[in-house]
Amino acid sequence: MTAGGDGTGRGSDARRAEARAAPRDDAAEGGRDRRVRATIRDELAVDTADDRPRAEDPGPAPGAVIELERIHLGFGDRPILEDVSFLARRGETIAVVGESGTGKSTTLKLILRHLQPDRGRVYIDGEDICDLSFTEALRVRRRMGMVFQGAALFDSMTVYENVAYPLREHTDYREDEIEARVRQKLEFVDLDPDRVMEQLPSELSGGMRKRVGIARAMANDPEIMLYDEPTSGLDPLTTATITRLIMKLQRELQVTSIVVSHDIRSVNRMASYVAVLADRRIRFFGTPEEMAASDDRYIQDFLGGF
Ligand SMILES: Nc1ncnc2c1ncn2[C@@H]1O[C@H](COP(=O)(O)OP(=O)(O)OP(=O)(O)O)[C@@H](O)[C@H]1O
Ligand SMILES: [Mg+2]
Repeated sequence: MTAGGDGTGRGSDARRAEARAAPRDDAAEGGRDRRVRATIRDELAVDTADDRPRAEDPGPAPGAVIELERIHLGFGDRPILEDVSFLARRGETIAVVGESGTGKSTTLKLILRHLQPDRGRVYIDGEDICDLSFTEALRVRRRMGMVFQGAALFDSMTVYENVAYPLREHTDYREDEIEARVRQKLEFVDLDPDRVMEQLPSELSGGMRKRVGIARAMANDPEIMLYDEPTSGLDPLTTATITRLIMKLQRELQVTSIVVSHDIRSVNRMASYVAVLADRRIRFFGTPEEMAASDDRYIQDFLGGF
């Protein structure tokens, strides 16, 4: 099935949203035109399976902090993502939703450069990260914080050591500087450092573990936060607390975020835009309000399932 039914696989909603989200300056207009031209060119072209950058590649969109451009990715001979494009500007939160197995976690791994696309480009602040060396990729990754599904804390380490971990890995702070940072991050996620620092993850509630996971991800003051189902398995009140926390990072620190979520209520509260993955493609891209008003039957059925 082709998303949007317009033959481009992008869906009219996706293109409308991209057009609306682009800054209204000449450079951006030029960038969009180039992307539109690239779409037309691709429609006309025979599939070349060429994964090398070409001189006429559209290139990064002005002002985008994270951009996926026409990503194709398969595992073995099984295609997972086809022609997936979306972008996030500074301070925006993009929610990625979709049925199980549609490639949401895979999308995060592409942004972290844990995976490379078969075709297409991933840009971070305009830098193409696909061809970076391992060391260069680490430099880019240091600017990102990742909150793994199920918090994924180190079970044998205390809360203090968990949050200190990225600081020990990536900085040469003295111990007193590390402690000050750890305390600051725990306070940001509304945990009392003196109460929790010496506890083990197993001694915490699910919601507290998620908060420690967020504190650890933000230890290095990343400009980008990636969350893989940060509220799954939590009760509604704790879900609301975690959602507020993600919004606080967005509001107070202007962090650009991608949140994979199954929780449509928290998506509606926190997302600047929602990207719906279905049939390997972006089926819809737009604001939560536009998603609710969409007359796409799939989107309505998807929302009705919550
Ligand atoms: N390393 C891998 N090797 C082979 N197949 C993989 C690999 N990683 C993911 N897949 C497959 O790719 C598809 C997409 O996986 P992904 O984890 O991105 O889905 P998801 O949308 O995050 O699903 P869920 O909502 O269940 O977490 C799945 O069918 C999965 O089995
Ligand atoms: Mg997943």
